[in-house]
Amino acid sequence: MSAKRLHLGIIGAGRIGKVHTETAAFRLPEVQIVSITDADHAAAARLANRCGISKVVNSNAEIFEDGSVEAVLICSPTDTHADLIVQAARAGKQIFCEKPIALDLSRIDAALEAVDKAGVTLQIGFNRRFDANFARVRRAVETGEIGSPRLMHIVSRDPAPPPISYVKASGGMFLDMTIHDFDMARFLINDEVEEIFVSGGVMVDPQIGAAGDIDTAIIVLRFRNGVVATIDNCRHAAYGYDQRVEILGSLGKIATGNCYPNQAEVSTGTEVRRDLPLNFFMDRYLESFAAELRAFVEAVIEGKPIPVTGEDGRMAVVMGLAAQKSYREHRPVRLEEIREKAAAR
Ligand SMILES: NC(=O)c1ccc[n+]([C@@H]2O[C@H](COP(=O)([O-])OP(=O)(O)OC[C@H]3O[C@@H](n4cnc5c(N)ncnc54)[C@H](O)[C@@H]3O)[C@@H](O)[C@H]2O)c1
Repeated sequence: MSAKRLHLGIIGAGRIGKVHTETAAFRLPEVQIVSITDADHAAAARLANRCGISKVVNSNAEIFEDGSVEAVLICSPTDTHADLIVQAARAGKQIFCEKPIALDLSRIDAALEAVDKAGVTLQIGFNRRFDANFARVRRAVETGEIGSPRLMHIVSRDPAPPPISYVKASGGMFLDMTIHDFDMARFLINDEVEEIFVSGGVMVDPQIGAAGDIDTAIIVLRFRNGVVATIDNCRHAAYGYDQRVEILGSLGKIATGNCYPNQAEVSTGTEVRRDLPLNFFMDRYLESFAAELRAFVEAVIEGKPIPVTGEDGRMAVVMGLAAQKSYREHRPVRLEEIREKAAAR
């Protein structure tokens, strides 16, 4: 890493904004945070205070207009991402944006076009690619350690559903939660999915159903190379955050389990037990959040390849839209149907 520091502006001081801001402030010496903003000024001020950020500004525009800000982290709600990417690109800022880019492809395409035109960097926040467990699984596929992959199972269950207000603004489970698993599936198999079939429903909370969403699903993916995969999602698992994967290949299998706060095992006359897994993404994926931000900084400062591109962000949304359609129409949906619909607009 060169001696140059990347000057950041941060938009959004909620759950994920807090994770990225703390990472940038306390773990990345290559970064200097210039300013932060949030629609809730007090939230930005509190985070700035804790992280030693001297400038809290009142609007996103002030970040874009500040010539000393070289790169922005977009950590605001999903429905703001595409417009903010366009504004940031026009202002010549390098961009890290949380997933998903947007909930429809025309807005995503407009954002990616603005990025292309401005020639700036855009990295999307699929942090799980940087998780040590998942990176090891990808390596086993890439190097042929388990031969040719045949089957994959991704288990991805949350400890508890988010608030209903978040559910309503999130775009629904496929585009908010499963979207990570869609990206993981492409990343781990290193190939594209061609067809998706979903079976699911509302098993956790009727309010989620009333908000027009579902909370439980099995999603079957068929890849171009013939691999068949399942994604098993639920918004509630009584024992905490459940994040596992297994791939069966022609020479063997690779599997990763959950991460625990400690390795202790208690054995008594009646049972053998251990503590629950790390509870949610802020704990389980903390290291991956730091690694993804470091990779963004290296892409900008050192010109290294962007590890998660706008196209990756778009493809995960195509898969999410295909899953929605499959659930609604009770049938397998080919990804071409979604891509062609977007092209026809
Ligand atoms: N990569 C991950 O694992 C991960 C995890 C959580 C959330 N996310 C994504 O991050 C985004 C934010 O999610 P969150 O859980 O932090 O939500 P949140 O509601 O906790 O925080 C969002 C923050 O943005 C602020 N805000 C709202 N509108 C704004 C605007 N126009 N400009 C600036 N600030 C605005 C809100 O006041 C709030 O403080 C979502 O798109 C979500 O999908 C990603």
